[in-house]
Amino acid sequence: MIKVGVVGGTGYTGVELLRLLSRHPQVELTAITSRGEAGMPVAEMFPSLRRRVDLKFVTPQDAQLEKCDAVFFATPNGIAMKQAAELVAAGVRVIDLAADFRIRDVAEWQKWYGMEHAAPALVAEAVYGLPEVNREQIRNARVLANPGCYPTAVQLGFLPLVEAGVIDADHLIADAKSGVSGAGRKAEVHTLLPEAADSFKAYGVAGHRHLPEIRQGLSLAAGRTVGLTFVPHLTPMIRGIHATLYGRIKPGIELPDLQALFEKRYAGEAFVDVMPAGSHPETRSVRASNLCRIAVHRPQGGDTVVVLSVIDNLVKGAAGQAVQNLNIMFGFDEEAGLDIVPVSP
Ligand SMILES: NC(=O)c1ccc[n+]([C@@H]2O[C@H](COP(=O)([O-])OP(=O)(O)OC[C@H]3O[C@@H](n4cnc5c(N)ncnc54)[C@H](OP(=O)(O)O)[C@@H]3O)[C@@H](O)[C@H]2O)c1
Repeated sequence: MIKVGVVGGTGYTGVELLRLLSRHPQVELTAITSRGEAGMPVAEMFPSLRRRVDLKFVTPQDAQLEKCDAVFFATPNGIAMKQAAELVAAGVRVIDLAADFRIRDVAEWQKWYGMEHAAPALVAEAVYGLPEVNREQIRNARVLANPGCYPTAVQLGFLPLVEAGVIDADHLIADAKSGVSGAGRKAEVHTLLPEAADSFKAYGVAGHRHLPEIRQGLSLAAGRTVGLTFVPHLTPMIRGIHATLYGRIKPGIELPDLQALFEKRYAGEAFVDVMPAGSHPETRSVRASNLCRIAVHRPQGGDTVVVLSVIDNLVKGAAGQAVQNLNIMFGFDEEAGLDIVPVSP
């Protein structure tokens, strides 16, 4: 058993971590923080966790995080970077669900996130936690940068094509839609029911913070800088991301069987399901699970490949992937705590 702390236990990714960790056979939850709700039983705020989590929220200062084996930060950007060095020095392994350690170029990170980085040295050693790409490096990570939700869906969808070099890497297009829980639990006007329900809109067309993260991952996969147009949308669902990805087939190449390419790339991956040719994956087919379901199409045999990639933003897009990374880091079965059948309807 390892001792695990969660900083930010009152948020959406925090409560999702608690749901998954409370049934993990090798994890003992020892500290769950909230600055505003310290002293309140966790199960009072989240009755879904009654008889599963007996702890009370504590302040981050009282949490004795240095006594944990691993600490998850389910906090806004800019929090983990201030505490990670001290924890790492105490032998604690840090998993950040925010973006503090995701972008290797610190100047680029500072530009997109609008703050000075507090721990650039740790950025250099942090491992980007997309297991389907970095499994070996994740095993020894002391600081783990858990990928963003859109970046997970988009990268998993594009990777087989980009790695094989069969599409024009200068003109990738990712059209992605997210449920409202992607914005977190804090009160904001745009996530109120009358604002978000029964409506549909794009946002961040000029540049979303996940753009440099996706570009970094796909550029590494391509072995060169890729060109990407990324347009996120807010859709009136609670959970789920649906990414529709477009790539132009390079002229004059011998195109492999695309279905076989995807099946081979993800053979043996527990959490990536390449669906049968012609499929249209639905977000509800992955709801509450750590799965990414993918389908690859070539409409009318033309020069454009269309990939459909769906995840639950709170699970494979956040807490589930973070637990998957914990499992790899501590040598547990990668599926421990994550063997969940999606909820339908
Ligand atoms: N929602 C998603 O789908 C999703 C997906 C991937 C990644 N992420 C990332 O995961 C992180 C958490 O997202 P979320 O949606 O769970 O956010 P959230 O619902 O707004 O929750 C944020 C949590 O952080 C805590 N917190 C805020 N400021 C803090 C501080 N200064 N020190 C300590 N704790 C603090 C809050 O607790 P108290 O105020 O009670 O202390 C709360 O529990 C974000 O960085 C987000 O970008 C989210």
